[in-house]
Amino acid sequence: CGANEAAPAAVIVNETASPAPTPTATPRPTATPAPVELYGVTVRWDDEEIDLREEAVAARVCGLAVDRAEQAVSDRASAGVYEDKSGPAVAAMLKEAGYEVVYTSIVPDEQEKISEELISCVDEKHCDLVITSGGTGLSPRDVTPEATRAVLEREIPAIPQAMIYYSLQITPRAMLSRAVAGTRRNSLILNLPGSEKAARENLSAVLGALDHALKMIAGGGH
Ligand code: MTE
Repeated sequence: CGANEAAPAAVIVNETASPAPTPTATPRPTATPAPVELYGVTVRWDDEEIDLREEAVAARVCGLAVDRAEQAVSDRASAGVYEDKSGPAVAAMLKEAGYEVVYTSIVPDEQEKISEELISCVDEKHCDLVITSGGTGLSPRDVTPEATRAVLEREIPAIPQAMIYYSLQITPRAMLSRAVAGTRRNSLILNLPGSEKAARENLSAVLGALDHALKMIAGGGH
């Protein structure tokens, strides 16, 4: 998601019919925005500091890094072209929070292959939490949300909404991620954007709720 060199043409529809409103002070959320920690796992949640390590869960996690490349990932990896940084960063955050990362893989950005890997992580590897990084943006090859939606049974729209709410306080480009989250069987599947920075920031925004979500999905609590 790099900077755009050429300025694209813009069209303003109906400009004369509805003049621009007088600028006012930037509206602020009424609640104190929660700080996003990039490297720690302590988040502010319901105005309380919760150290996630105290609530450590023994959930099995699968992590899939979706690669944006025409070529097979293994070819590029063996040629030293591709290095997945967000996957290990996300895995480290999850381990720190008490999760056991049991499987990771790098998947080419093809919708069917991503869906197949997600199904395998849930139905065969029985991972409680499956996290993808990458492929959530707007390029034609960004198909992770479509691949994920195709295998979800129930969406949890507020998880990506929370990620965007927190992330917009860091960068307006947060609005360019189309990440989705939801459940398949007893597992939670969550998309993160692909850069290491974006993946860390987005996971920080929701990590505090995942433990409780997994317990509910497994049939306990509410
Ligand atoms: N969210 C946070 N918190 N920080 C970021 O730097 N980058 C954005 C967005 N979300 C970003 C972020 C950008 S530039 C893009 S293009 C989208 O995530 C999608 O990224 P992806 O295509 O790698 O999944």
